[in-house]
Amino acid sequence: MGATPATDQAAARILGAGEPRARHVAIIMDGNGRWAKKRGLPRAVGHQRGVEAVRRLVRGLEPMKLECLTLYAFSSENWKRSHDEVDDLMNLMRRFIKSDLEEFVANGVKLKIIGDWRSLAPDIVAMLEDALARTANGRQILAVALNYGGKHEIARAAAKAAAKGAITPEAIEAQLDTHDLPPLDLLIRTSGEIRLSNFLLWQAAYAEMLFVDTLWPDFKPEHLQQALDDFARRERRYGGR
Ligand code: FPP
Repeated sequence: MGATPATDQAAARILGAGEPRARHVAIIMDGNGRWAKKRGLPRAVGHQRGVEAVRRLVRGLEPMKLECLTLYAFSSENWKRSHDEVDDLMNLMRRFIKSDLEEFVANGVKLKIIGDWRSLAPDIVAMLEDALARTANGRQILAVALNYGGKHEIARAAAKAAAKGAITPEAIEAQLDTHDLPPLDLLIRTSGEIRLSNFLLWQAAYAEMLFVDTLWPDFKPEHLQQALDDFARRERRYGGR
């Protein structure tokens, strides 16, 4: 992903000099099931197309100059789905890592996993550990939330902070899974639903929110670029005036 003067110029033209550029965007990828239903297809096909949307987006990331993209791939509540659907999602994860890891390494994508991912199936944990090691020198972070729940994350962080002595916002923040990521600037949810679904509850405190009607399999890099352009025009006050 080596930054070339040409892409720098393109980014500067799109965003405008001096405008606040988003460093960290997170996405709740919703609507795979409805995408499939509309076409009379099984939900599994919606999820497959959802993975293709992820791949497309990651391939389109570099010129956007984002430091971090965080994707909600599997929530701690998703275990309530049918056994078959959970299996489909886990198998998609396995296949995605196998097929795309080399491309991540080549393109300077640095993988990060948040959530309680170490309790996933041992073969997935091993694949993820390998993927984390192999992408460790990447420049642009792709954080994937797996078996993630915001309340759990905060509770775990608070317990760790307490063990160290102080329960202050700063002490909790230092223990969150995202402690080494840039502050969250923008949270996007697709498919027209307007809620957080236990995603990045703490990190969203001052993030901008964008809810779009597009179903996740239809989401394209252009949609993210549009969101980044809109973000650059918003005025953020963090509680001040
Ligand atoms: C929401 O659609 C989507 C999910 C629960 C999973 C998101 C997962 C992917 C896009 C694929 C896996 C990701 C990676 C990184 C390999 P939904 O099923 O809730 O849709 P619906 O609300 O229309 O039923």
